[in-house]
Amino acid sequence: MAASMLLFFLASASLLVNVPASLPPDYTTVSCDVVVIGGGLSGTYAAVNLLAHGQSAAVLEQQGRLGCHVEMYIDPATGAPSNIGVIDYYKNSINQAYFSLLGVPTAPVPQTATGEVYLDLATRETVSKFDAEAQIDSFLPTVLAYTTYVNATYPYLTLSYENLTYPIPDELLEPFTVFAARHNFTAMLQFYESLTQNIGNLWQLPMYHGIHSLNPKLVEFTFAGFINAASGNNQDIYTAVATYLGAQNVFLNSTVLGVPSGGYFGLEEGDSDTSGLCVLSTSPSSSGNQTTLVKACKLLVAILPSLASLT
Ligand SMILES: Cc1cc2nc3c(=O)[nH]c(=O)nc-3n(C[C@H](O)[C@H](O)[C@H](O)COP(=O)(O)OP(=O)(O)OC[C@H]3O[C@@H](n4cnc5c(N)ncnc54)[C@H](O)[C@@H]3O)c2cc1C
Ligand SMILES: *[C@@H]1O[C@H](CO)[C@@H](O)[C@H](O)[C@H]1NC(C)=O
Ligand SMILES: *[C@@H]1O[C@H](CO)[C@@H](O)[C@H](O)[C@H]1NC(C)=O
Ligand SMILES: *[C@@H]1O[C@H](CO)[C@@H](O)[C@H](O)[C@H]1NC(C)=O
Ligand SMILES: *[C@@H]1O[C@H](CO)[C@@H](O)[C@H](O)[C@H]1NC(C)=O
Ligand SMILES: *[C@@H]1O[C@H](CO)[C@@H](O)[C@H](O)[C@H]1NC(C)=O
Repeated sequence: MAASMLLFFLASASLLVNVPASLPPDYTTVSCDVVVIGGGLSGTYAAVNLLAHGQSAAVLEQQGRLGCHVEMYIDPATGAPSNIGVIDYYKNSINQAYFSLLGVPTAPVPQTATGEVYLDLATRETVSKFDAEAQIDSFLPTVLAYTTYVNATYPYLTLSYENLTYPIPDELLEPFTVFAARHNFTAMLQFYESLTQNIGNLWQLPMYHGIHSLNPKLVEFTFAGFINAASGNNQDIYTAVATYLGAQNVFLNSTVLGVPSGGYFGLEEGDSDTSGLCVLSTSPSSSGNQTTLVKACKLLVAILPSLASLT
C-alpha cells in the first residue's frame, strides 16, 4: 500500500542527542548537499531523487541493508522467494518513474484473494471471505460516492495533511464509522478495511485519519493495480538504490552519534563556512568502528519518530 512519507527537513536536529564533545582521533569526512538519516523507503526515495536533480546525498542507515520493511524469505526446501514484508507497489506514474530511473524491471501483481482465512476474533470462528474482485458490485457505487464527496469537500486532504485547515471541521474529528453511517457509506467498509494497514483501530480514529488512509487518489491508484520487482524479490529495488547512490554514499550499520547544534563548522580546523551542519556517525568494521563526519547543507530525518529511535 502507499508509503506514508514522513519527511522532516530540519535546519538542525536538536532531537538527536548524544552529541560527542569532540571528534574521535580517527574519522573520515564526507561532504554532500543533503545528509539523510534513515535508509527506508522515504529516505532512499529522497536521496535518489536529489541525485537525479543534481544534488549529492549521503544516507545513514542503522540496519545492515537499505529498504527496511522490504523483507525476502527464501523457502529452504524449494528455494522459492517470498516477499514477507512489502509485497507490492501501486502501479502509478510515481512508482513507475522511480523503478524506471533505478532500472528495475517490474511485473504486475494479481490482487486475488487466495489462501486468506477470515476469523471472528471474538468467537474464533471463520467467517465468509471478503473477495474484492468477486464482490465489487456490492461496494463500488458506495466507493465512488465516497470519493466524490471527499474530493469535493476536502480536496486539500489528498495524500497529505499539509493543507489541513484550522479549526478542523467537526466532521473530520468524528469516528470514521459514525461518518460512514451518516453518509450511507457503510457498504464500502470491508473494502476499506481490506486496504488499510498499520494504522490502529481505524473505526474509532478521527475521520481525517480515515480519509488519509483512503483518499480519492489512493482509490484511483488501487483500481489501477499493483506491481513489484519482476524478479519477485523487492530487495532488488534497494540493491539498485545502493548502486544508483554509489556505495561511498551509503553508510550501513550506522549509529548516529550526534548533530552538534550550531553546525559542525569550527569542529574541524580551518572551517570558516557557518551555513551548514554535520552528522557524526559510526559503523563497525573489521578494524573497529569507522567514524564518519558528514558535512551537508541540509539534514533530512526519515526515521520513525518514536522515542526509541530519536534518542
Ligand atoms: C509488514 C509490512 C508490510 C508492508 N507492505 C507494504 C506493501 O506491500 N506496499 C507498500 O507500499 N508499503 C508497505 N508497507 C508500508 C511501508 O513499508 C512503509 O510505508 C514504508 O516503509 C515507510 O517508509 P519510511 O521511510 O517512512 O520508514 P521506514 O521504511 O521504516 O524506514 C525508516 C528507516 O530508518 C532506519 N532508522 C531508524 N532509526 C534510525 C537511526 N537512529 N539512525 C539511522 N537509521 C535509522 C530504519 O532502520 C529504517 O530503515 C508495509 C509495512 C509493513 C510493516
Ligand atoms: C552489518 O552488520 C551485520 C551484523 O553485524 C553484518 O553481518 C554485516 O556484514 C554488516 N554489513 C555491512 C555492510 O557492514
Ligand atoms: C476531484 O476533483 C477535481 C476537480 O476539483 C477533478 O479534477 C478530479 O478528477 C476529481 N477526482 C476524483 C477522483 O473525483
Ligand atoms: C497545499 O497547498 C499549496 C498551495 O495551494 C499547494 O501548492 C500544495 O500542492 C498543496 N499540497 C497538497 C498536498 O495538496
Ligand atoms: C444507501 O446505499 C445503498 C448502497 O449501498 C443503497 O442501496 C441505498 O439506496 C442507499 N440509501 C440511501 C438512503 O441513500
Ligand atoms: C562502536 O560504536 C558503537 C555505537 O556507538 C559503540 O556502542 C561501541 O562501543 C563502539 N566500539 C568501539 C570499539 O569503540
